[in-house]
Amino acid sequence: MSRGNGILLGIVVGIALVGAAVASLLHGGVSARVNPSALEIMMAREVRHMAIPKSARKLQDPVTDTPENLRDARLHFADHCAICHANDGSCDTPFGRNLYPKPPDLRGAQTQKLTDGEIFWIIENGVRFTGMPAFGGGHGSEEDSWKLVRFIRHLPQLTAEERMEMEQYNPKSLGDREEEQEENEFLGGKPMQQKPETAHHHH
Ligand code: HEC
Repeated sequence: MSRGNGILLGIVVGIALVGAAVASLLHGGVSARVNPSALEIMMAREVRHMAIPKSARKLQDPVTDTPENLRDARLHFADHCAICHANDGSCDTPFGRNLYPKPPDLRGAQTQKLTDGEIFWIIENGVRFTGMPAFGGGHGSEEDSWKLVRFIRHLPQLTAEERMEMEQYNPKSLGDREEEQEENEFLGGKPMQQKPETAHHHH
């Protein structure tokens, strides 16, 4: 093969590979209804891992597992995170099921294998090109994010009582609340209590 032909072959193969990669990325068009391929998930996790500075990955959680810290984190998670991740971390919610990429089950090995520092970094900075928002800067304190790291470690052992308490702190529309109240009154119970901490924001 002449040198010119070799270069041409190289170019053709190169274009074919790029084409295959793009086709693989866009296998469902730009719809969020398909699932990423295993290759795409692996590549995305690897790129994310490399993008988190080593020093940040090595940070250890300064917060300890006191009952107060874990409760703070649970209620915070119920209010800000459960809409996508579900109270139990399964991500089985209408948002969680339909995002692209979908958030992984936070109780699973994939997430639990991440270092404290890596989980903290993800909560503070979010993940670009995914639905995972950044929660650092302004919104909450770093301590809150470290508490959330403790909660994520606790998720595999979450109890039914803890989950039921969280349900009271999940964001609800006025419609949901009215419906709940009606059901409750119908069942002869006492009127639903208002969501304790944030109730005053809704007047
Ligand atoms: C709007 C939806 C949404 C909300 C709200 C949200 N997340 Fe996420 N989260 C995601 C998505 C999507 C991913 C997957 C990101 C990726 O693929 O890299 C993710 C990933 C994560 C991960 C990494 C898990 C892993 O193994 O890759 C952690 C930890 C996490 N979220 C914690 C939180 C916490 C804590 C909150 C609340 C303070 C929160 N998230 C709120 C959508 C959300």
